[in-house]
Amino acid sequence: QDPRTQAIASTIRVVPNFPKPGIMFQDITTLLLNPPVFKDTIDLFVERYTGKGISVVAGVEARGFIFGPPIALAIGAKFIPLRKPNKLPGEVMSEEYELEYGADCLEMHVGAVQAGERALVVDDLVATGGTLCAAIALLGDCKKLRIHVEGLRETDERAGAEVVECACVIELPELKGRERLNGKPLYILCMRLMDGTLLIAVWE
Ligand code: PRP
Ligand code: MG
Repeated sequence: QDPRTQAIASTIRVVPNFPKPGIMFQDITTLLLNPPVFKDTIDLFVERYTGKGISVVAGVEARGFIFGPPIALAIGAKFIPLRKPNKLPGEVMSEEYELEYGADCLEMHVGAVQAGERALVVDDLVATGGTLCAAIALLGDCKKLRIHVEGLRETDERAGAEVVECACVIELPELKGRERLNGKPLYILCMRLMDGTLLIAVWE
């Protein structure tokens, strides 16, 4: 366990009953207000992923856009935004995923990644794992293509990148998102239980 994770975990504010009753919202904006802790957060990821042959960092809208780009720059990888639907102007791969209530969708520009590239997926938090599953599909085997004027259709083309790992700042282990990733490695810096207890990550 790295001693820096303690301060990272304790600067993430918990806001009860946001955005809905019963949800303990993990607010990383308070971490961002502390430059040394924000820097430690990025450094821990950079130390792990430097020299691993990763050419792509894909960040999940919205909070993956905060942590992904500094990691990408530091390891010399390109950054790809995985966006909520109808935000990207070009041809996109499109992957729906389940939420606690209803469904959402992530999209990635066709051509952003080449087949065989080694990719890292970055987000702030893993809860049920649905978001990371959609990100892994988009970079790899997703078969749904959407062009704005034409709509969604099936395609035989796949992006074909290899997601080597997913990296998040915080995990809510009780929601079992890790189990949903079908063995895809997930690296996190800290965990929080629903009762507010903080656990420091010891994964290596
Ligand atoms: C939150 C969080 C993760 C996702 C995790 O994002 O930032 O992206 O939920 O949940 P899951 O593991 O159950 O899929 P949210 O969808 O609320 O959107 P935002 O980042 O744009 O605020
Ligand atoms: Mg998010």
